[in-house]
Amino acid sequence: MATVVLKRTGQKMPLVGFGLWKVTKDTCAETVFNAIKAGYRLLDGAGDYGNEKQAGEGVKKALAAGIVKREELFITSKLWNTFHAHDHVKALAKKQLSDWGLDYFDLYLVHFPISLKYVDPTHRYPPEWFGDDGKVYTQNTPLQETWKAMEELVDEGLAKNIGLSNCQGSLIIDLFRYARIEPAVLQIEHHPYLTQEPLVQLCKTFGIAVTGYSSFGPQSYVELGMAKGTSLFEHDVITSVAKSQGRSVTQILLRWATQRGIAVVPKSNNHDRLVQNLDCNTFDIPEADMKKISSLNIGLRLNDPAEIDPRLAIFA
Ligand SMILES: NC(=O)c1ccc[n+]([C@@H]2O[C@H](COP(=O)([O-])OP(=O)(O)OC[C@H]3O[C@@H](n4cnc5c(N)ncnc54)[C@H](OP(=O)(O)O)[C@@H]3O)[C@@H](O)[C@H]2O)c1
Repeated sequence: MATVVLKRTGQKMPLVGFGLWKVTKDTCAETVFNAIKAGYRLLDGAGDYGNEKQAGEGVKKALAAGIVKREELFITSKLWNTFHAHDHVKALAKKQLSDWGLDYFDLYLVHFPISLKYVDPTHRYPPEWFGDDGKVYTQNTPLQETWKAMEELVDEGLAKNIGLSNCQGSLIIDLFRYARIEPAVLQIEHHPYLTQEPLVQLCKTFGIAVTGYSSFGPQSYVELGMAKGTSLFEHDVITSVAKSQGRSVTQILLRWATQRGIAVVPKSNNHDRLVQNLDCNTFDIPEADMKKISSLNIGLRLNDPAEIDPRLAIFA
């Protein structure tokens, strides 16, 4: 399995993993078990996805069946926005580990560089973006405080690697001014309509591995009624490269990313599609076609918190 070597720990992160956002709660345990059985070794979860207990059940079943050992899996989770205060970080990470039934995460990411008012998990979990009255409440926790607590998770063995998600250059550069433990991974929206070259280049410069999410562009947002732009699955450039390679459009979109050195975490609630997505690194896209796909970039961002509240315009 192709991997990316993480800088500080030397740990190998699979280039292709399985994404858990919108994996239905009642099928999640079985889907995770089957994903592991099919060969996935990286699971990309988050407290916000509301299915960590079920994902953990799937992992437990795979371990019990002897399909994998814990150390052969790479499990990622993310810290939600309402838990950025120093003391909430550890409490939440411990709760998430207990939901999964794990002793440690291989990677724990700050989901967004956005701090929202604390919501006690006994009151509502996952808390999502809004207070009980449907309004957004921000909280003044600087990222430096959150990062210090993230570093303590590494010190205590609760996370092997820590990283960021949805952060831009200036914030990353600032974090390097104070970080005792550098971020190992940055997870960002990445597809041919949003190629993010300068940010990917900055990560390369700093030795941060990049994971791209929503590799299929608008497709993931169709089920939420939030899709924008023309489907990449029907775009002439993608369909013609797929035809010439004898591959599916999704395999082309995933390979385009991994060939750029960017890890991917496609999600599917369908077993055949999940299996097909994993098989995306056994061919190469010719350089001319790689360029054609990259030239589709139009800066189209589908996951932008500014659409929830203008005070959350982190990509402005
Ligand atoms: N850090 C963040 O803020 C963030 C944000 C978004 C996502 N993520 C992570 O990234 C993962 C992937 O991103 P994503 O969930 O947005 O979307 P995605 O993997 O780009 O796309 C998922 C969509 O594509 C469909 N699909 C999957 N495989 C297919 C195939 N072979 N043929 C046709 N359709 C296919 C799925 O439908 P079916 O399920 O019906 O197959 C679903 O509608 C997430 O699950 C999550 O782990 C992170």
